[in-house]
Amino acid sequence: MESWATFGGDLHLDLSAGRARGLGLRAALEDALRSAVRDGRLTAGTRLLSSRALAADLGIARNTVAEAYTQLSAEGWLTSRQGSGTMVAERGTPPAAAPPPGVRPKPAVRHDLMPGSPDLSRFPRAAWLAATRRALAGAPHEAFGLGDPRGRIELRRALADYLARVRGVRTDPERLLVCSGYTQGLGLVCRALHEEGVRTLAVEEYGLPPQRAVIDAAGLATVALPLDEGGARTEALLGSPAGAAVLTPAHQFPTGVALRASRRATAVAWARATGGILIEDDYDGEFRYDRQPLGAMQALDPDRVVYAGTAAKSLAPGLRLGWLALPSRLVEPVMRQKRLADGQSGALEQLTLAELITSGDYDRHIRRSRLQYRKRRDQLIAVLAERAPEVRVTGLSAGLSAVLELPPGSLGEQDLLRQAQWLGISLSVLSWCRAPSVEPAPDARSALVVGYGTPSDRAFPAALDALCTLVRL
Ligand SMILES: Cc1ncc(COP(=O)(O)O)c(C=O)c1O
Repeated sequence: MESWATFGGDLHLDLSAGRARGLGLRAALEDALRSAVRDGRLTAGTRLLSSRALAADLGIARNTVAEAYTQLSAEGWLTSRQGSGTMVAERGTPPAAAPPPGVRPKPAVRHDLMPGSPDLSRFPRAAWLAATRRALAGAPHEAFGLGDPRGRIELRRALADYLARVRGVRTDPERLLVCSGYTQGLGLVCRALHEEGVRTLAVEEYGLPPQRAVIDAAGLATVALPLDEGGARTEALLGSPAGAAVLTPAHQFPTGVALRASRRATAVAWARATGGILIEDDYDGEFRYDRQPLGAMQALDPDRVVYAGTAAKSLAPGLRLGWLALPSRLVEPVMRQKRLADGQSGALEQLTLAELITSGDYDRHIRRSRLQYRKRRDQLIAVLAERAPEVRVTGLSAGLSAVLELPPGSLGEQDLLRQAQWLGISLSVLSWCRAPSVEPAPDARSALVVGYGTPSDRAFPAALDALCTLVRL
């Protein structure tokens, strides 16, 4: 039996389920329509096909459809109005469908200070569009097919030059792999290491829980490296069960400190002595405001350090573009994992990014963004100094987020989150970032993790104002 009908757009109406339960045609149709309304496929106000058209679509008698419509109208699912046909009634509208497991419903957010995103209104649309045009016009036909799992050679060449120039990374296009953001890159490396027998990875004691979940999903256990103002205490790697470690040397997330030179050296010495691998997450390495950023740790030993970069902060997280500069021995194993994951990353975005970099537009965008975010950070510090001087902003003058330590006696972090929600602010707290095995220090203060780079310029002053209200509660 035909089970497709058109309601402005296609709608799947499966009469067979009702028929299998022994229902007659009319009851099966009523049942299918009720389910479509209940599960939100037919929303309030949707105009249904005329009984004649639906009957023709389903290959059943028009009377059967008309009777089903009458019955559902009597039950309040549908309404019929002279001249406008049969529509889904308000009464029949189900409550908003529950989000799928793992997706948090979003409360109304008026002030988005959630760390993790740049100001999306700054995405360089015109430059990206121009780069896309050039990329499309110049792309060979084979670019539309599947190719090297490492990604387009045009982008790998552009990245090798860019990363050497801007971050001091020592690599070449053969050892670069383009992936779907840092998150995928981390997963690929973890799975490759797992295949080589690594079972434990060291992580910084504060970091992003979703990234720890990626490590976990690759079958690796984690041990946490303590942090202080000099970054991760890498001497703790010596004697640990870890076969690899993930670090954020340029700008620890979320505490915002840099990894001290001596600790970088200790980490590299550990990797050399044990055959270990370091994964350098350089997620916002271009955004240092007070001075030239320290170059990438990878330059100390490109055969021991995986350098990982991303366009998530420099352009937009939604692009899902990241890159890995791999030690030679990991190129094949990580390519294999990329092939298994998705074959390769999207070619058109890669060609566009290559154009953006080689034209100089990427550099220009970063320079402008750096100025803007620096101004934001300065404003944040100035406003807090004036309105909440007891709040301490920790970390370097860098990046797009900051940790705000509240004075003793302030609300606890969970209460702060509740109050923030009430004020329409979305932000994070330090305890959310803490590795589960780590106990908070007994004298730990409540601390907010604030993404000052997230709002648009227009929204930023009001967001700052709301933040001041929150920290003074
Ligand atoms: C610490 C850290 N690493 C990496 C990333 C980038 O991840 P992705 O490139 O998968 O968006 C982020 C983004 O929020 C981050 O905060």
